[in-house]
This record gives sequence, structure tokens and C-alpha cells, in this order.
Amino acid sequence: MKDESMSAAESPLGQNIIKLISNLCFSFFVVSVLVFTVIAITYQPPDPWLDSSRAITSSLSDTLPNSTFHTDDSLLTTGEDLVPLPPSPSPSSVSADTPIFLAGEICNPSAAINCSDPHALDAVRRFTAKVFFRRSIVFLSYEPPVAGASPGECDVSWRFRNKREKSWRKYRDFRRFRLGVTENCTYEVSSMGKFRSGVNARAPPLKSPSDPMAKARTVEIVDNEINDTIPTVGSELEFKTGRYLYYSRGGDYCKGMNQYLWSFLCGLGEAKFLNRTFVMDLDVCLAAEYTSSGKDEDGKDFRYYFDFEHLKESASVVEEQEFLRGWRRWDRATRGKKGVGGKITARKVPTYKVTPMQLKKDRSTIIWRQFDGPEPENYWYRVCEGRAAKFVQRPWQAVWKSKRLMDIVSQIAGKMDWDYDGVHVVRGGKARNKNLWPNLDSDTSPDALVQKLLKVVSSWRNLYIATNEPYYNFFDKLRSHYKVHLLDDYQEMWGNKSEWYNEMRELSGGKPVEFDGYMRVAVDTEVFYRAKTQVETFNNLTSDCKDGINTC
Ligand SMILES: *[C@@H]1O[C@H](CO)[C@@H](O)[C@H](O)[C@H]1NC(C)=O
Ligand SMILES: *[C@@H]1O[C@H](CO)[C@@H](O)[C@H](O)[C@H]1NC(C)=O
Ligand SMILES: *[C@@H]1O[C@H](CO)[C@@H](O)[C@H](O)[C@H]1NC(C)=O
Ligand SMILES: *[C@@H]1O[C@H](CO)[C@@H](O)[C@H](O)[C@H]1NC(C)=O
Ligand SMILES: *[C@@H]1O[C@H](CO)[C@@H](O)[C@H](O)[C@H]1NC(C)=O
Ligand SMILES: *[C@@H]1O[C@H](CO)[C@@H](O)[C@H](O)[C@H]1NC(C)=O
Ligand SMILES: *[C@@H]1O[C@H](CO)[C@@H](O)[C@H](O)[C@H]1NC(C)=O
Repeated sequence: MKDESMSAAESPLGQNIIKLISNLCFSFFVVSVLVFTVIAITYQPPDPWLDSSRAITSSLSDTLPNSTFHTDDSLLTTGEDLVPLPPSPSPSSVSADTPIFLAGEICNPSAAINCSDPHALDAVRRFTAKVFFRRSIVFLSYEPPVAGASPGECDVSWRFRNKREKSWRKYRDFRRFRLGVTENCTYEVSSMGKFRSGVNARAPPLKSPSDPMAKARTVEIVDNEINDTIPTVGSELEFKTGRYLYYSRGGDYCKGMNQYLWSFLCGLGEAKFLNRTFVMDLDVCLAAEYTSSGKDEDGKDFRYYFDFEHLKESASVVEEQEFLRGWRRWDRATRGKKGVGGKITARKVPTYKVTPMQLKKDRSTIIWRQFDGPEPENYWYRVCEGRAAKFVQRPWQAVWKSKRLMDIVSQIAGKMDWDYDGVHVVRGGKARNKNLWPNLDSDTSPDALVQKLLKVVSSWRNLYIATNEPYYNFFDKLRSHYKVHLLDDYQEMWGNKSEWYNEMRELSGGKPVEFDGYMRVAVDTEVFYRAKTQVETFNNLTSDCKDGINTC
């Protein structure tokens, strides 16, 4: 290096070369800055947003022929959002709404309130029916009240459902009520505590005391109704008499969640069409766009995101490891023996080009689809393309969001007493891309939001802002007009003391589970959907089109 510069300084030619080189270097620097700037400007992080839940089927079908899911990797619609009408309740469970009036009581206004007295529950029912009327809450069943912290207080637990949720799932609330005796000798509620304030009525944990995790748990599990244990394959004979459809892992692994669902439901649909049990890999790989590490993360569990219990009830599935164990056991049991029923027959299907219709008559115990080709040949959903689409139907109703996530949704909405309005503010990459969304950035600026929202949402209402804007203080201007709520205000619900955190640790075998980007979007969206007035970005805040300029 030293020698070169010495000799260069001696000759004009050398100087020229140095000049040239430094010029080149500078140009290269300028070009790299330019390239970097251009990349920075045009880079669009995936927008984790669901704009219209109802549109999923059509929008997925639109992107399908291109074999990519680049357009809308953010849709978060699952079966419960697609059901046109909520399933009707069982008649026995809805009568709780009507108060029962009891007669013939002895009047003694100075007597202590007896929470076990049926009149106490009756007063609570009348009160809640009045307060929650118009808040889309249906009361399903009450537990007998128990004494609160001081005389005159009763803690009452009940189950409810939200009319805005299409699934018929029940959630739990327990509150503290203050009761008094009126001159007419009836119990009357004078005040009601906040969501889940009646801690004495909190349901005791049902799980077995031998459960080692139960001892380590710092909080009690409120929702002990979830049963998403993996069903085991019983006897060898039980295994042998089943008929299975087994998909090897394909190119969909670690792709976006929409592609995952679209592919998974194709497999499930084919299994239904073939009248077979679908062998299911509970291992989910979360794509980089949703992880905090910015890398694809495998080893996630289906049950973190979706309702496995509901899936078990609505489709015939067997977990992959259980299935393989059953298969091995059968092989061992029949090895060397004759007349025990023979070997398991497995038909290997190397390509998606073998259609479900061609497999319909196959009597093999196992149909094993292998997806070994290069992308996009190895995507599961290709099985359902073309003519097969007419025969195989994706059982959307089998996939619901995880009840554990919905419990968080329910708690957030509950903290606002189901009395809030919502605005969905899409920003992120779309707001930065002025070519496709010329007005979005200015239409979702704090000043524009104040102006537009004041026209549709009354001042000082609870306002839940569902958004992909990462800057927490972005919405501060709205705080002088509304009680603003953001998802991050509720971090304790998935923090390391939360019910959710503890339940997830049980699922993952003790390892802490991160509340990841996909869960955030799922919860944010569902809270928004429970708001009374819902202000959407596209249509309501801006005239830009959801999918870019000239697409609407
Ligand atoms: C497939 O991609 C091309 C180019 O991106 C686009 O013009 C076309 O509309 C897409 N087709 C479908 C069905 O989305
Ligand atoms: C409270 O009411 C229940 C049911 O009516 C009754 O069995 C119980 O004896 C009462 N307790 C007191 C302290 O009055
Ligand atoms: C008591 O009953 C009378 C007549 O039924 C009614 O007008 C009055 O409002 C009742 N008082 C209370 C506190 O409920
Ligand atoms: C959970 O469901 C399975 C059947 O899927 C059942 O065998 C098991 O007993 C249930 N566990 C609890 C705790 O209810
Ligand atoms: C589906 O399979 C079950 C048992 O595996 C059998 O009982 C039933 O008849 C089959 N249905 C059809 C339509 O083949
Ligand atoms: C819980 O999280 C807090 C803050 O993130 C941390 O300081 C604390 O050590 C954690 N506790 C446990 C038990 O992990
Ligand atoms: C949002 O836009 C839709 C469609 O134009 C309209 O039906 C709805 O009333 C608007 N919502 C509000 C809160 O303005």
C-alpha cells in the first residue's frame, strides 16, 4: 500500500490513476447511497392488515393462479368470521336473560345481605340485563353468587357470548356487586365492579393437582374449558381400521399464514372428499414478517393460533407423531406373524398431478402425498387446483382462532365494558408508498384523524385504535378528544404474569412463548370488530383504494 502510493506520487500517470480510482470510489458511493435510498423508499414491510374479513375467499382465489401470496399476506379471517349467521344456541342455555321474580320474602332492611339467597342473583340478573342491553353481550349462565370482600357485596360469575363473534363460544366474567334492600323488600344492585373484579367468584382451577406446571403457576387459569390435548391413537386395531391421508411437509412451510391456511384447508378438504382422517402436523413455522427476530421461526404450535379443540370436533384429524407411532406399533405387532390382518398398505403419491378424484377408489390404509418437487410444484394447495376445485371443498368452518387469543380479545373489550368505538388505521408501507396510495399518509395523519373522527364518533368516547403504526405516540392528538386505547396498553394480558402466558407455557412444555406479530394482528382485528361504531381506513378515512391506485 505504502509503496504504491509512493510510486504513484512520483509519476503523473500514477496520479491520474489515483484520481480515477477515487472518482470511481466516489461514484460507487453515490450510487450505493442512491440504491439504498431507493430501496428504503420503496421497501414495503408486509402490511399485517385485514381489511375486509368477508373478502378472504375471493381474494385468495384471485391470487391463486399466480401461485404466490404476495398481494395480501395479512388477511386474518378464519371460519368463525365466515359463518353467515351464528349457530343457534341450545335452548336451555339462553333463558338466563329473563329475570325471575320471587314472591313471599320476609322484609328486614337491616338484615345482612345473603349472597346465597336466590333474590341476590335475581337482582344481579335484572341489573346486568339493563346495563348490557345494546352492548352485544348475551348472558348464558350464572354461577351462584358468593360473598364479596365486605358485607353487602356479592361476587358473581357468569358466562356470556358476544353477538359480534359468530362462533358459539362462551367467555367468563366475574364481578363484584354492591347490593341493598329496598323499601319494597327486594334486593337491588347499587353498583357493579369492573370486568373480572369479583375475584371470590373466580372459578377454581380444574386441572389435576399432579400437573407439575400447576404448581409453578403464578396466576389461576380462568378459562379451564379449553381441551386441546392431542388425541392418542388407541389400540393397534383402531389404527388399522382407520383410513388416512398423509401430506409430507411441502414448500408451504414458513410461508405466510394465509398460504398456510389455504394449503392446510386443501389437505383437510381432500381428506373429507376421500372420507379419510387427515394426518396433521401441529408444528407451524411463523414467517419472518410476523416475528420479532425478523427471521422465519419454526417450532410454533398450531394451537398458539387456532382452535384445535374445534378442529377435532369438526373434522377427522390425527396428529402426525401419534399417527407415526401407531403405524410403527402396527408394523411391530405384525412383523413375522401371519394372519393378524396383514401389513398396512400405503400408497405413495409423488405429485399433486394425481387428482383427488383418481384417489377416491383407492382402498390403501394410507394415502401418502409427497411434495418433493421444486417450488411452486411442492405447495399443498396445488392439489386443489383445476378440476379438483369442483370436487374438493375447503372446510373453512373447521378453523377458528385460538380461544386463548380470543380470551385476550374478550378481556380488552371487557375492560372497556364493550362500550367503545373503533378505528382501523392502516399505515406502514402503504402510507409510505405515494405511488399506489397517494393520499393515505395525509388522510391518516393525526390532524386528519381528529377532523374525520369528530364527525362520526362523539367526543370522550372510548376509542380503540387498531393499527400497524408502530409509533405509540402517533395518536396523541386524539387524546384531547377521546379516551384512546391501543393494543400496547394491554401488555399485561400477555405479560409473564398473565393467564395467557401461563397457558402457553403449558402448551409449549415450559418454554416461554412470545406474543408474536400474528397474534397481535389477530387480537387487534378482533377487538376492532367488537366496537360499536367501526371506522375503516379505506372507504371511511381515505378515498385511496385498498390494493393501490385504480383498483376500486
Ligand atoms: C398474476 O400476476 C400478474 C402480474 O403480477 C397480474 O397482472 C395478474 O393480474 C395476476 N393474476 C391474478 C389472477 O391475480
Ligand atoms: C342464605 O340463603 C340461603 C338460601 O336461601 C340459606 O340456605 C342460608 O341459610 C342463608 N344464610 C343466612 C346466613 O341467612
Ligand atoms: C316499590 O314499589 C312501588 C309500587 O310497586 C314502586 O312504585 C316503587 O318504585 C318501588 N320502589 C323501589 C325502590 O323499587
Ligand atoms: C379432553 O378431550 C379428550 C377427547 O378429545 C378426552 O379424552 C379428555 O378426557 C378430555 N380432557 C379433559 C380434561 O376434559
Ligand atoms: C366413510 O368412512 C366411514 C368409516 O371409515 C364409513 O363408515 C362411511 O360409510 C364412509 N362414508 C362414505 C360416504 O364412504
Ligand atoms: C417478567 O418480565 C419482567 C419484565 O419483562 C422481568 O423483569 C421478570 O424477571 C420476568 N419474570 C419472570 C418470572 O420471568
Ligand atoms: C364507512 O364507510 C362505509 C361504506 O362507505 C359506510 O357504510 C359506513 O357507514 C362508514 N362508517 C362510518 C362510521 O362513517
